[in-house]
Order: sequence, then structure tokens, then C-alpha cells
Amino acid sequence: MIKIQNLSKSFNNGNNKIWAVKDVNLQINKGEIFGIIGLSGAGKSTLIRCINRLEEPSEGKIFIEGSDITSFDKKQLRNARKNIGMIFQHFNLLFQKNVYKNISFPLELEGLSKKEIDSRVNTLLEYVELSDKRDAYPSQLSGGQKQRVAIARALANNPKILLSDEGTSALDPKTTKSILDLLNKIRKEFNLTIVLITHQMEVVKDICDRVAIIEEGEIIEMNKVEELFKNPKTHTANAFISGLKSDIPDENFSPAEFEGTLIRLSFLGKSAKKPIVSQMVKKFDIDVNILSGNINELISTSVGHLILELSGQKDEIKKAMDYLNNENVNVEVI
Ligand SMILES: Nc1ncnc2c1ncn2[C@@H]1O[C@H](COP(=O)(O)OP(=O)(O)OP(=O)(O)O)[C@@H](O)[C@H]1O
Ligand SMILES: [Mg+2]
Repeated sequence: MIKIQNLSKSFNNGNNKIWAVKDVNLQINKGEIFGIIGLSGAGKSTLIRCINRLEEPSEGKIFIEGSDITSFDKKQLRNARKNIGMIFQHFNLLFQKNVYKNISFPLELEGLSKKEIDSRVNTLLEYVELSDKRDAYPSQLSGGQKQRVAIARALANNPKILLSDEGTSALDPKTTKSILDLLNKIRKEFNLTIVLITHQMEVVKDICDRVAIIEEGEIIEMNKVEELFKNPKTHTANAFISGLKSDIPDENFSPAEFEGTLIRLSFLGKSAKKPIVSQMVKKFDIDVNILSGNINELISTSVGHLILELSGQKDEIKKAMDYLNNENVNVEVI
């Protein structure tokens, strides 16, 4: 659906050249919610803005449904952009216009008749549950309501792709959840492909299928969300995840303070709900001390983490760890 090939983007800052995006390669599938997470200044906005050429790439190609949009002239680009809606952190609504006019604006540009526009806007207002606010002005709306208007406007032209640049960053957690639920509903009902930029792992956890971590313009890790949670490879991925499971920082458990063997388990989906630990205690001649644990519910599955102290004969402990591995549990000795 979206294929990004060797994409780089530089900016000239006085005499300095800054590479905001460096040789990024990725492929995003139709109907997928793809997250891009990174710290401030990592190059997230620059990368997502290259996808609809709000930012002109310096190098590389971007294919959308097989067409290289970096080769498009202005007219082709205008047409291509109708297929790409975008929402922003600060909503970017037209403050002089009411809700209805904000949503009808892209349709007026399309030259649709008044009747067609009216029907489409009313459908969209109903969809984002704001029919009662059609005459209100943005200043009279809450943040969540403003983002719903922006989403309705982004959907006006029936796009195939929706780009969200920190679309929930200005919202409180409850409103964030309701906007993410709306995006998920849109993806399901319209088979929309959503590319979502965020600095919050919470957002990735709640809604994304896959995620790329970007640091200093480069993708340093990319995986299915459940795999990333189960087995983060880079320090940055670990740091983002540990922000979520703050109740279980490994460093609180220093092996020297324990007589037994300390292990950290990560398990996915079905394994997260099976009584694996109690089975293990029954099967092997070991004692188990549960030190800490949590389960994170992801959009597609759940991921659990447990820290255990195992005491007993070395070979029994080894057998127990093999048993866990066979049950599809990731075992790490701390
Ligand atoms: N128009 C510009 N001119 C010069 N430098 C720019 C421009 N836009 C971005 N940059 C630089 O490119 C780098 C990446 O910026 P970008 O806005 O893409 O980061 P970001 O990951 O979106 O950060 P944030 O989370 O703060 O929004 C930064 O060093 C930034 O200063
Ligand atoms: Mg940004």
C-alpha cells in the first residue's frame, strides 16, 4: 500500500545541513495501523510529511498503491492527496468557520453540489458523533471534539490513507482512548490504512499492529507490536516500554540479593492466560517466589511479564526453564 524506499530528507540550517530522515525503508500494508514512535526531534513529523509531500524528500522514493508519488507533477499530486487525509496535534481547524463549514471545505474545493455536500457532511457528523455541534465554532469545542471535526474533515474525500501526526498528544488519557477507538472503527469499516506518529507507547500499545522506532532520523527497530513488547531489542525500545510497565523495573531486583535464580518471563496471547507457573511448580522439584508481574493488553493480544525467583537443584531449575521455553514463554536469567 505504502512503500518507502531509501527516503532521506535534509534541511539547511545556516551553514549546517541537518539530516532529519536518513535512509528509511518501510512497507505499510493496506488496512494496517502502523505506528512510528520516537523522541522529540527524532524526525517523525518530517517522515510522515514526506508521505504526502508536504515535505519534499531529498532522496528516495515513496510508492502509494504502486505509483511513485515523488515523480508526480503538481496536478497528479493534488489528485493523490485526495486519497491521503491527515490530522495534527493541534487540530488545524479553520477558526473563523463553524464545524459544518470546516468539514464541507474540502468538498467545496472538489466542486460538489450543495446537496451532495450536505448529505456527506451530515453523514460524517453522525459518524464522529457531533451532529449536535454542526453550528458551533472550534473555540466552543473541547480538544476531543475538535479532533473529531478534524477527523471528519480528513475523511470527507473518502481517503485510503490517514496520517496522524501526534493526533492525540494534546488530549487527556480518556479522550485519547475515545479518539483511538474512533480511528480503529474507521480502519475496520473503511479498511483505511493509518500511519500514526506518537511519542507515547500507550498509543502504540492500544491501537497499532506494527511499530517502527525512529532515532536521529533512522529506523532502529521495527516489529509487530506484540513482538516488540515481548522482546525489545534496542535500549530505546526498552525505555519506551518500561515507561508503561513502571511497576516492574528489572533493576529493582538485584540477583545478588537473592539465593535462588532470578528469571524474567515474557509471554504472549494464550500463554499469558494459561496457569503455566503453577503447572511448572507441580512438575518440577523447585520453589517459586513471584516477585513482580503485569499483563499489558495490546490491540491484537496480551503480553505478560513476570519476575520469579526459582530455588532448588540446578538441573531441576534447568528443566523448569526448558519447560517454560516449550510453552512459548521467553525466559531470561537476570
Ligand atoms: N523546516 C525545517 N528546517 C530546518 N530544520 C528542520 C525543519 N523541520 C524539522 N527540522 C529539524 O529536523 C529534525 C527532525 O524534526 P521533526 O519535526 O521531524 O521531529 P519530530 O520527531 O517530529 O519531533 P517532535 O516530537 O518534537 O514533534 C529536528 O532536528 C528539527 O530541528
Ligand atoms: Mg513532530
